[in-house]
Amino acid sequence: MLTPETVRPATAGDAPLLATLHAPSFPEEPWPADAFAALLDSPGVFGLIGFADSSPDRPDRARGFIVCRMAADEGEILTLAVLPGHRRAGLGGRLLAGALARSAAWGTGTFFLEVAEDNPAALALYRGAGFEPVGRRPGYYRRDTGRVAALVLARRLADLLTPSPP
Ligand SMILES: CC(C)(COP(=O)(O)OP(=O)(O)OC[C@H]1O[C@@H](n2cnc3c(N)ncnc32)[C@H](O)[C@@H]1OP(=O)(O)O)[C@@H](O)C(=O)NCCC(=O)NCCS
Repeated sequence: MLTPETVRPATAGDAPLLATLHAPSFPEEPWPADAFAALLDSPGVFGLIGFADSSPDRPDRARGFIVCRMAADEGEILTLAVLPGHRRAGLGGRLLAGALARSAAWGTGTFFLEVAEDNPAALALYRGAGFEPVGRRPGYYRRDTGRVAALVLARRLADLLTPSPP
């Protein structure tokens, strides 16, 4: 079910909020607020935050976010998360689509990302959005039980610039 949401760009001032949204999804490696602040101040980096109930000024209504980096004609997803109690409501897909559209408009030709092989939710989201495997990095992520490979996925963005027929 798609709940009403507002997605707005993140600023460096949102860094504490992004850290709060990131930690529940990545408890092994939470990113601190100052890391998000530095990222969002970096050239080519942008973030989007999704809020419930069209409340973009209320941090307590924030449900998820995405942070991406663009360089030359390539883009990459640095991190993406939706709060555990609010998944499967369409926000992850909406954040991803918003990031790809924004990047395509800025001239990004191909988008890349790394995803753990043991993350079926993210893999399904990305495959559904048109990403295809282009590489594999063995032992890339640390787990309590050992290490797990990352799949490198890519998606060309040219189709996002094609106007839809009337
Ligand atoms: C991956 C993640 C961002 C998806 O967010 P979400 O808001 O639940 O995603 P959506 O509701 O937009 O789902 C879109 C599609 O992705 C797929 N999908 C999402 N979660 C899934 C799951 N648990 N199992 C199977 N498919 C799933 C489905 O195809 C889904 O469409 P559907 O609901 O119509 O079947 C979320 O699960 C998350 O935050 N996970 C932890 C952090 C993470 O893994 N980030 C990505 C790191 S690379």
